[in-house]
Amino acid sequence: MSRIHILPPHIANQIAAGEVVERPASIVKELIENSIDAGARRITVDVEDGGKQLIRVTDDGTGMGKADLELAVERHATSKISDEADLASIVSLGFRGEALPSIGAVSRLSITSRLSGELGGWQVRMAFGRDKEVMAIGCSQGTTVEVEDLFGEIPARRRFLKRRQTELGHISQIVRTFAVAFPEVLFILRSDGRVLFCSRPGRQGAECLWPLLGDQIISHMLSIEGSSEGIRVSGYVTPPEEARASPKAFYFFLNRRPIGSRLLWKAVMEAFRGYMVRNSFPIGALFLDVEPDQVDVNVHPTKREVHFYYTDAVYRLVYHSIHRALKGLEAGVLLREDHSEKDESLLSYRQAEIPPEACQVSEGLPFDLSEKGHMAGEVSAPGPVSREQHDICKDLRILGQLAESYILAESPEGLVLIDQHAAHEALIFKRLKQQLEQANVLATQPLAFPEVLDIGPEDISRLPEVCPILNQIGVVIELFGDSQVIVRSVPEFVVSGQDIKTVVTDLIDRILDLPHQEPMALIHDLLASMACHSAIKANHRLELQEIEALIEDISFEGVTHCPHGRPILQVLGFREIERRFGRN
Ligand SMILES: Nc1ncnc2c1ncn2[C@@H]1O[C@H](COP(=O)(O)OP(=O)(O)OP(=O)(O)O)[C@@H](O)[C@H]1O
Ligand SMILES: [Mg+2]
Repeated sequence: MSRIHILPPHIANQIAAGEVVERPASIVKELIENSIDAGARRITVDVEDGGKQLIRVTDDGTGMGKADLELAVERHATSKISDEADLASIVSLGFRGEALPSIGAVSRLSITSRLSGELGGWQVRMAFGRDKEVMAIGCSQGTTVEVEDLFGEIPARRRFLKRRQTELGHISQIVRTFAVAFPEVLFILRSDGRVLFCSRPGRQGAECLWPLLGDQIISHMLSIEGSSEGIRVSGYVTPPEEARASPKAFYFFLNRRPIGSRLLWKAVMEAFRGYMVRNSFPIGALFLDVEPDQVDVNVHPTKREVHFYYTDAVYRLVYHSIHRALKGLEAGVLLREDHSEKDESLLSYRQAEIPPEACQVSEGLPFDLSEKGHMAGEVSAPGPVSREQHDICKDLRILGQLAESYILAESPEGLVLIDQHAAHEALIFKRLKQQLEQANVLATQPLAFPEVLDIGPEDISRLPEVCPILNQIGVVIELFGDSQVIVRSVPEFVVSGQDIKTVVTDLIDRILDLPHQEPMALIHDLLASMACHSAIKANHRLELQEIEALIEDISFEGVTHCPHGRPILQVLGFREIERRFGRN
């Protein structure tokens, strides 16, 4: 008898699904793509328990009739392409006929749909790739897909799902990304019945980016436009002084499809070279339009990567379009400088370079920081290095506190505002990092009253990966029963009045949620989290001595940005004040 046998279809489909369905957010992505391909103008995403219990996507698109519904859950069944020529020139978001059968193989799936112009609707159901049934049902026009009990029969995969909040974060990111790519469509995201996000169709220009970048930053972005050799690029980037310490906030869209692309990212970074200080990254979004036959979107199971046929042309176009905008900005500043204002900070970008990130990992403790091992994404670097950043705190006259959140002071340049939380956070982070680099572990202090935390049996099994990392940052925990741990000691500064449960739970969550994160980046994240929890909060009244001590410390340490890359200090220059009062 032959040892090789063909797998039963539901098992084969589960295996194939591994490529398409990684987590709830991948399902949300596929279902939104289908709704958009069906011409929907309104897409509602409902999730329960971060999508692990339920994902429901409802649209007002064209809908499906009975025959199509029956086919939709079969593999390689698609209405979007028919032959090879179509495959070479894809204009829809979907084309493989893989998504629904893959989802159906790993969950309880139901699709309810009514074609426009028909009186009644139909529903197809299946559970873990089996028991397909189709029935007539009354419903409104459009399609509703419900996905329940994700990975319910595949414990090995269910175990890898993260906490509700983490999965929700990924889902929210997907919905927001599509809201940016399709600003004319109304997107609503509800979690356990509560509206988390609702897009605002009808916005124009940079305002369309608010779902991903927020309202504040989009008000002063540079517009990017360019076209050559049949390729068009448009979009927005932040001016260099708004650069961040992390490269996470830059988005690319190709023919409206959200994509990741090293090529495009390289072109962006190259264009910014010389305008930003080291280890800082621009924020923005670029939309590329190319003829569908100039690109291959069929190169990755999640359709997130693409191959451009004319990589050089694409690279050049993106590079030159951004470079032109930055040059224009610079010219504007120089022009203004001739007459009145002088923006030294911007000019100093010209001399800056972006060196490659350095990081080192060695054996022994999980992450060795004792040598030159700089952390990836070093945080004190971004932002203009000028008098404002380094020396300004040296001669300040303290005026008071604004909204119990910002310190107000006078300097020879003008009015100085210091974000008390960000400043203190930056200080603590820098000190922690220094201590870790010197000693390779953080000093720890036993708790007089150890705290007990609930962390759930699933996570208990992963404690062996968590504990060594926690120990390195000065947190010692021990197993207590089958779903709890005792916190025995924490770093010295955490002892002083912090909610230790919150701090340690957050650290454990981060380690469990980011198991594959580059080690230095993970440590960076953990230190930043501790610094954030331990720093003076906003809405907290400070005594004069506390303000003085804080200012002295930031001036001594020379910190400029918090670990998340936000500046700690702003100066409202006298010229600007005078301008606002119409005095120049
Ligand atoms: N919301 C929807 N409204 C109307 N038709 C839909 C909807 N969702 C799916 N369909 C139909 O079901 C078919 C199968 O969907 P499925 O997502 O599995 O494959 P696809 O979109 O063609 O390709 P891909 O696997 O790349 O997503 C689609 O081709 C489309 O005809
Ligand atoms: Mg699809």
